[in-house]
Amino acid sequence: MAQQYRITLLPGDGIGPEIMAVAVNVLKLVGEQLDLGFEFQSALIGGAAIDATGEPLPSATLETCRSSDAVLLAAIGGTKWDTLPSPERPEQGLLGLRAGLGLFANLRPAKILPQLIDASPLKQEVVEGVDIMVVRELTGGVYFGRPKGIFVTETGEKRGVNTMAYTEAEIDRIGRVGFETARKRRGKLCSVDKANVLEVSQLWRDRLNQLAPEYPDVELSHLYVDNAAMQLVRAPKQFDTIVTANLFGDILSDAAAMLTGSIGMLPSASLGVPGSTGVFEPVHGSAPDIAGQDKANPLAQVLSAAMLLRYGLNQPKGAELIEQAVWQVLDKGNRTGDIMSFGMNQLGCRAMGDALIRTLSQSA
Ligand code: IPM
Ligand code: MG
Repeated sequence: MAQQYRITLLPGDGIGPEIMAVAVNVLKLVGEQLDLGFEFQSALIGGAAIDATGEPLPSATLETCRSSDAVLLAAIGGTKWDTLPSPERPEQGLLGLRAGLGLFANLRPAKILPQLIDASPLKQEVVEGVDIMVVRELTGGVYFGRPKGIFVTETGEKRGVNTMAYTEAEIDRIGRVGFETARKRRGKLCSVDKANVLEVSQLWRDRLNQLAPEYPDVELSHLYVDNAAMQLVRAPKQFDTIVTANLFGDILSDAAAMLTGSIGMLPSASLGVPGSTGVFEPVHGSAPDIAGQDKANPLAQVLSAAMLLRYGLNQPKGAELIEQAVWQVLDKGNRTGDIMSFGMNQLGCRAMGDALIRTLSQSA
């Protein structure tokens, strides 16, 4: 076998295990077709880890991830753990994983597929041709800044605190990912901030402007985040690559996702410095309302496996095979409930996986 890779699987909670099973079958088949050896190991994260070990990110999980070539994550969280105080919640597992692996850059593509144009809540002429990449900073900003916590003041009143902070070095490294990403796409980078109000954003904007001369082939623009949210639904085609801070990127990537009709279609890649282990996961959550019912759309998970091959293992051929199979399955009219439209063939999660496997087998 030409190449051996260790891949850690983190199925997590809710629909996670169902969609993960589909993605693993797809990866196995592509591995056979391209003569790539995948050694899969599963580990616990999120609510599943809390139930089994009391912690959302057991140290064994972080170690397993560190020693692997790439991590495929499904989704974490659910109503069962929603009442826990925030340091003990499943979400902390995800944040700890991002921080622990140094994954400061989160790439979230939002591309409208011609097959799914009807699934978008926006008018066809607004969304046709949309192809946006959101580059979200992932290990800093208000998610990680200190001080943080709920403190009791002198008057006995509680006060919740989070801190939005970025150093120049943190801004520069994500800024560079933004410029590099834009350079490989259509050469337009929009930096989103709130520099009219926040000092941290003023520094962000200054640093982006400082970097710009190093990338003369990239056209840099700036938008305030409120305006960016509006422009994303008003005229999304103006965007190519967006680079922004952690919280703004969290919010804008959900909005961008919805342009494409379903968040159930969108993958993401979380990357660190070259050579570090990346985490690949769908943008959507664990959808506890449909968990275990074979209704989930596995395509974002499968497309995350494609991103894993492209960005995590430098195996673009495998990524293309998977992406082609997804487009073909949709071309044939197959849809899960979230992207269903009149006259299409509605499938459950497993059947969608079977359709992908059949299509991939034929493409070999
Ligand atoms: C995301 C999610 C996470 C985030 C949550 C689950 C911690 O919303 O990946 O976008 O806020 O980063
Ligand atoms: Mg989010």
